[in-house]
Amino acid sequence: MYLQHIHLINYRNYENQQLNLNRGINVLIGSNGQGKTNLLESIYYLAAGNNFRGNKDIELIKWDQPYLRLIGQMKKDDSERCYEMEVYIDKEKNKQLKINGVKYKSMSELHNYLRVVLFSPDDLKIVKGSPAERRRYLDVCMSQQDKFYYRLIRDYDRIVQQRNNLLKELQYKKENKAQLEVWNQYLIEYGSQIIYKRLQYLKMLVPMARKVQQALTCETERFSVTYHCSMGAIGDFSVEQIKNVFQTILAQKQGEEIARGTTLWGPHRDDLIFYLNGMDLKKYGSQGQQRTGILSLKMAELQTFYKLHGEYPLLLLDDVMSELDDARRQFLMKMVKKYQIQTIITGANIELLTDEMAENEIFWVQEGKIITK
Ligand SMILES: Nc1ncnc2c1ncn2[C@@H]1O[C@H](COP(=O)(O)OP(=O)(O)OP(=O)(O)O)[C@@H](O)[C@H]1O
Ligand SMILES: [Mg+2]
Repeated sequence: MYLQHIHLINYRNYENQQLNLNRGINVLIGSNGQGKTNLLESIYYLAAGNNFRGNKDIELIKWDQPYLRLIGQMKKDDSERCYEMEVYIDKEKNKQLKINGVKYKSMSELHNYLRVVLFSPDDLKIVKGSPAERRRYLDVCMSQQDKFYYRLIRDYDRIVQQRNNLLKELQYKKENKAQLEVWNQYLIEYGSQIIYKRLQYLKMLVPMARKVQQALTCETERFSVTYHCSMGAIGDFSVEQIKNVFQTILAQKQGEEIARGTTLWGPHRDDLIFYLNGMDLKKYGSQGQQRTGILSLKMAELQTFYKLHGEYPLLLLDDVMSELDDARRQFLMKMVKKYQIQTIITGANIELLTDEMAENEIFWVQEGKIITK
């Protein structure tokens, strides 16, 4: 897919900026605080319907303005048709989405059009952060690929909330115990499917990530990821087998769950463990190795998307190139060129620029304005 054009009106520090993007590489260069990440963020918004830096929608509106408008025009690889996505947000908390002029209630409609894989310095938390960060990473990336998964995790979260409320209630209202069986069945049904889907997805993602890591590091680094299930080893289990394990655990540990008033087992308690040459990457990896591991995962994410949908998402690289050594940077550039992945790279230093880059691939960002030479 290909984002051809973007128009930002009152978005962060941009007042009125239009930009034609290249089908291949686009490099945004500028000093700190000029608007590079803001631009990537606006592209991400058009894909995900939310903001990756965790800001409220209203904070995206230019400070002295009452509303923002974001318009993107894109093409998918299998047709000549152009899609126009338009997001409007104002300070009265009104929000509107239009796709080719048709209004939609939910921003999640955007998930059917533009897809992006973002790699930013903040992503180090996928390795360094808490298990919740890794689950979030996996859930966001799988939701992009699979709408059914997106609904599963949304519904599962609600089930866990309701079940937690009931577990707390059962500490003093024992007569409500029959209700727990009903919630257990929902938890097992939804939770087992989530675990199964995660395992299937990792089966595709991890071998690809391993290959990328080997190529990025001239075969010196072996990368691998395992799924750590709170209920114990589940290996190659089918959904039915996972359900049986889940059922047994809930029956055995009912007393403990009521005493603690919370759901102690299920996919919301699981984790991913990353290994580099057999050692735990979180505990022993250098910062550059952790970053490379995440980069391999992100590149593998692009490839799994291609495998499932027949086209590559956009690759957004925010400020990460300068952290990679020359060999890793060159491999990355070769890879995006080979697969014709539309890529938008930001950086504060002109060392990012190489002789092979054409003038029209370089954009200068200055105080919320983008200048081409
Ligand atoms: N709602 C807003 N309205 C106006 N300006 C904003 C708004 N939100 C953020 N800004 C400004 O946008 C500027 C640029 O932010 P951005 O994160 O894009 O910088 P950057 O070019 O990526 O810098 P760096 O190299 O430091 O990452 C900041 O100086 C900030 O003050
Ligand atoms: Mg930035």
